[in-house]
Amino acid sequence: MKFFIDTANIEEIKAANELGVICGVTTNPSLIAKEGRDFTDVVNEIVGIVDGPISAEVLSMDHAEMIKEGEKLAAIHKNIVIKVPMCEEGLKAVKEFTKRGIKTNVTLIFSASQALLAARAGATYVSPFVGRLDDISFDGLSLIDEITEIFAINSIDTEIIVASVRNPLHVIDAAKMGADIATVPYKVIKQMINHPLTDRGIEAFNKDIEKASLNIK
Ligand code: E4P
Repeated sequence: MKFFIDTANIEEIKAANELGVICGVTTNPSLIAKEGRDFTDVVNEIVGIVDGPISAEVLSMDHAEMIKEGEKLAAIHKNIVIKVPMCEEGLKAVKEFTKRGIKTNVTLIFSASQALLAARAGATYVSPFVGRLDDISFDGLSLIDEITEIFAINSIDTEIIVASVRNPLHVIDAAKMGADIATVPYKVIKQMINHPLTDRGIEAFNKDIEKASLNIK
């Protein structure tokens, strides 16, 4: 499983990138609005930090407009992936982007049938939302299980980005199911790093280093 960071916050993207664990970024209109900055400025800055797929979402709900917006975003950098919402207009736009060689990420996937259609329209990635399904008492991870199975059986090479990740267990369970990528908020990356036994171990080593005045010459 590969990791993307799910944020439009530049400091978080820089911090996660320095850790060496992420190879892409996903944004959405809500994440960009939270930063209170110009959409294009944010995207321009992100492509200068992470050398990998950067998802930038179209804002329109009409496929012709989506294509216009997507073309502008794609022109910013070769790593831009056009994020398109799952809907009829979105599928039409994905078909056209695919024809033009522009990569796409179909977002707001909440069922296996949506994932399958997006893949058949030519999507490079699909983003099933685990946390938002959990929020309505539907097991979000069961959707990941279903999509990974369907894509494997049908030799579909559209990559699965596990989205709306709320905790490290979402990541681990999705990795066991064979999902390609998890897009993870910075907070969850930090939760994945930390373990109380690691902290205790480091503390004990540090005490012993001091006691024995160890140093490396
Ligand atoms: C995915 O690409 C979305 O940006 C994101 O994962 C949505 O997560 P949320 O449900 O926490 O808003």
